[in-house]
Amino acid sequence: MLNVAIIGMGTISVIHLEAIKLCKNAKLIAVCDSDISLKETYSEYNFYDDLEMMLKTEKLDVVHICLPHYLHVSAAKLCAQYHVNVFTEKPVALTYNQAQELFELEKQYDIKIGVCLQNRYNNTTIEMKKIIDEKTYGNVLGCKGMVTWNRDMGYYDTKPWRGKMEFAGGGCMINQTVHTLDLMQYLIGDVKSIKGKIASLHLEEIEVEDTSVAHLDFGNKVTGIFFATISYCSNSAVEIEIIMEKARVVINNSKLYVYENEEVKCICEDQKLEGSKHYYGASHFNCIASFYEAIINENDEYIKVQQAAKPIKLIDKIVESNSTGKRENINYE
Ligand SMILES: NC(=O)c1ccc[n+]([C@@H]2O[C@H](COP(=O)([O-])OP(=O)(O)OC[C@H]3O[C@@H](n4cnc5c(N)ncnc54)[C@H](O)[C@@H]3O)[C@@H](O)[C@H]2O)c1
Repeated sequence: MLNVAIIGMGTISVIHLEAIKLCKNAKLIAVCDSDISLKETYSEYNFYDDLEMMLKTEKLDVVHICLPHYLHVSAAKLCAQYHVNVFTEKPVALTYNQAQELFELEKQYDIKIGVCLQNRYNNTTIEMKKIIDEKTYGNVLGCKGMVTWNRDMGYYDTKPWRGKMEFAGGGCMINQTVHTLDLMQYLIGDVKSIKGKIASLHLEEIEVEDTSVAHLDFGNKVTGIFFATISYCSNSAVEIEIIMEKARVVINNSKLYVYENEEVKCICEDQKLEGSKHYYGASHFNCIASFYEAIINENDEYIKVQQAAKPIKLIDKIVESNSTGKRENINYE
């Protein structure tokens, strides 16, 4: 049985807490938040307001990091120094350079660091990856990732770190659409170069961008378009479209469609989590459960820091391209 703790008892922690409860091989024993007014809410767990105190006092196997972005790397390093495995929310770090600080920690401290890019565990993603890898409809010619969501000032006013460069590291890209950039690259392969623009079109009170567009070059004449905004009037379904030689394959609204010869087929749908009241679906649970199994069975089947750093590199390069006005090459050396 894994002894588990969560640090950062805000919005997303609820999803982690429910997922941990469903894992038969793990037990949540402690939680940590600097806001001590939360102690009563979590009275069934040992409550700490300081991570190091929790690490010194409890015998922990895993800490889930659900903190504001700027605290992810320092919290992960501290857990590593106490030889405790880490499951961190996205983004793995504020920048690719910062993520590199975590690259050697697994070996150095004999631990695992898993990253919550849960959409890789969606049924639709798994099926789409299979279609691409097996070339079911021929080669990939191009792709599109579209996220048109709404976040109003209330979202930033209640948690001011989300609108500040220093604390969030960016806006719609690093916060809302890092998943989509991750999936585009996970499905098709490493991006070789990128040209992009970022803008504040709507929410001028926040420092971070609310809109971004980029052109991605995957090599071998495969290209992609990425568009992300949190300035839309509604939260539309995320769409990922892959153009293959013999069909168009699309994830939209948690379903996978194949458009072939004037016909459209829905070939799979994302799993809904039985017994969960959350609309997030099963993927947080699947991502967490895989990480626990990797620890127990000593396997490598979880999302590693090196993989989770790749979409952060794309974001860094979109920002760089926005200021240079040039296409930026990407390498992960
Ligand atoms: N995977 C997903 O789909 C998904 C969805 C939403 C949020 N997230 C991520 O989850 C993370 C948290 O986001 P959120 O919206 O829940 O944030 P939040 O602001 O709601 O919660 C953060 C919590 O951390 C606590 N905290 C801050 N500094 C602390 C410190 N030094 N020590 C202990 N506690 C501290 C705060 O008091 C707060 O309770 C972010 O990285 C975010 O990007 C991921």
